[in-house]
Parts: sequence; structure tokens; C-alpha cells
Amino acid sequence: MLRTLFIALISTLAACGQTELERTSAEMLSPIAEPPIARCMNMGSALEAPVEGEWGYTVRYKDLERLKSAGFDSIRLPVKWSAHALETAPYTIDPNLFDRVDEIYGWADALGLKTIVNVHHYNELNEAPDQHEPRVEAIWDQLATHFAGAPPSLIFETINEPHTNMSVARTDALNERLLSRIRQNHPDRWVIWGTAEWGGLDGLEAATPDYDPRLMLTYHEYAPYKFTHQGAPWGNAPRTDVRWGTRRDVSRMLQSLDKAVAVQTRTRMPVFVGEFGVYQGVPVEHRARWVRTLREGMEERGLAWCHWDFAGSLNVYDVDKEAWLPEMKSALLD
Ligand code: GLC
Repeated sequence: MLRTLFIALISTLAACGQTELERTSAEMLSPIAEPPIARCMNMGSALEAPVEGEWGYTVRYKDLERLKSAGFDSIRLPVKWSAHALETAPYTIDPNLFDRVDEIYGWADALGLKTIVNVHHYNELNEAPDQHEPRVEAIWDQLATHFAGAPPSLIFETINEPHTNMSVARTDALNERLLSRIRQNHPDRWVIWGTAEWGGLDGLEAATPDYDPRLMLTYHEYAPYKFTHQGAPWGNAPRTDVRWGTRRDVSRMLQSLDKAVAVQTRTRMPVFVGEFGVYQGVPVEHRARWVRTLREGMEERGLAWCHWDFAGSLNVYDVDKEAWLPEMKSALLD
């Protein structure tokens, strides 16, 4: 380990100038922190919708109990704050939404689960960043103030899947501003840096975050999209019988994970696979094979993960039958 670090340090020294050197060498010597999450579940389709329940799922205490007793240690709670904040300054967030999020992370904390709260589906930001960056900064100001003093089990994630006009450079700059604002009230809290290009591996590889000992980087893995999203009404992959699982498929998947590990090694910050999953229209045994292969690959590499999702369209739990999909549960945990 030390030898690898030393070699990495020497090659970095050779590649950069004297001023960058001091900062870089301190980072190169920092061990990559143990991520605070191992096995996480996305509570998709709930507060991610404009109004919770509109997309068919409402987060329930008993679901968090189920997740805890199955062996998960964290939940990710996607929240569409932008649908509950004033359109003009000071962009005040509806206090009822804060109450609801407090309730859910309070349940999770009492059960010993960590909760990641993010800013999800801020679609207008991607279309018109000049107009909406001040609003997302004001949203984060309010979140940082509201959650000051919250238990360490609460983790923040800056922004979900920036794309279109949120270029890599623009996403990096926004993340830096959000992080410095968050750090005023939350010097030691774990924060997750949302990456551009729809949160894909390319966006992760292109990001240039400064080192922070309590920062994780994230990306989402849905490749190949024409397999994982075939027939999903919100995607652009038609319903087909595309299958997955040849040796070539598996080796491509594992190569992508190796690229994510390389980002960890380069940045000295943990990489978190914040979403992965297969649309429920795909036969369950095929979904489970993809999910299991990826999950085992992540765990072999020490990457923390969060399945998308619990009871939405890429579900592992059937709310109508009040039962787990056993193949999916096993793919994630056994
Ligand atoms: C992204 C989207 C979410 C979707 C998921 C799977 O997180 O924001 O709405 O369900 O990806 O496609």
C-alpha cells in the first residue's frame, strides 16, 4: 500500500509544477477514507415526485424497518425541493416539506440507518442555469441552515444528474459553491458531489473536485441503457428483448468499475455508486443477474452502492403484495 502510494506520488511529482506540488503531495498521502455507507436503497418515486404519493409510493416507517432488518445500512432520499420553493427570491421552501423530510430521516436515524438527502429533478436548472443557479444556491442555504446540528447519520448530496446546459465545468463550479456554503454549518458532515453527464461515469471521470476529507464522489450505473431501461416510459429505449450476461457484457461492466476505482485512487476520495438498477418490465431473472453481477463487482472493489429503487419502477419490493421480490433481494444481499 505504502509502496503504491509512493510510486503514485513520484509520478505525480514528475507530472506537475512546484506550486501544485505541495497541495498534491498532501492529498496523495491521505488514505482514501472509509465511506460511511456500504449497502443503501434509493427511496425513489416518493419525494422525487412533485407531490409525494403522485408516483405511487409514499415512504413508510415499516419499509425502513424492512430495509434495516434485511441488512441495508442507508437510504437515499431523492427530494424535488424545486417544486416546493418560491419561484423568486428569497426562494423560501415550504416548511411542510422540511417536516416530512425530518420525519423520514428521524425514523431512519432511530433505526440506525443513514439518510442521504439530495436535490433531485431540478429540471429547469439544466435548461437555464443562469437563471436557476441562484435558486439552487438559496435552496442549499436553507437546507444547510435547517439541518444544522442534525446527527452525523444525515448525509447531503448536492445535485442529481446535471446535464444539458450544466456542463462538467459548470457543475464543478456549482458544486464548489454549494460545498463551501454547506461547510459553514456542517464542517464534518459527509457530502456527496453530484457529477455531470447525467451522473454517468464520463461525468465522474471528468470532474475536478478539490480534496475534502468528508467528500464522496458519485456516479450512476445503468449501462447498457438499452437493456436496463428497455420499455421504460420515461426513457428513450424501446421495448425489446435485449438480454445481458455474455462474458463480454460482464467484462465491460467490470472495466467500468475499475475506472471508478481509478478515480478514487487519483482523487483520494471514495466513489459511491449512487444509483443502479433494471426496469421492472424486464423479466426478473434477467434483472437479478445484472444487479447481482454489478453488486458483487462493487463489493469486491470496496465501492459503496445504492440500488435504484425500493418500490418504484425499478423495484425490489411489491407494495401491492407487501412482499419483497425474492430474486432481487437475494441479488443485492446474498
Ligand atoms: C434517475 C431519475 C429517476 C429515474 C432513475 C432511473 O435518478 O432521476 O427519476 O427513475 O434515474 O431511470
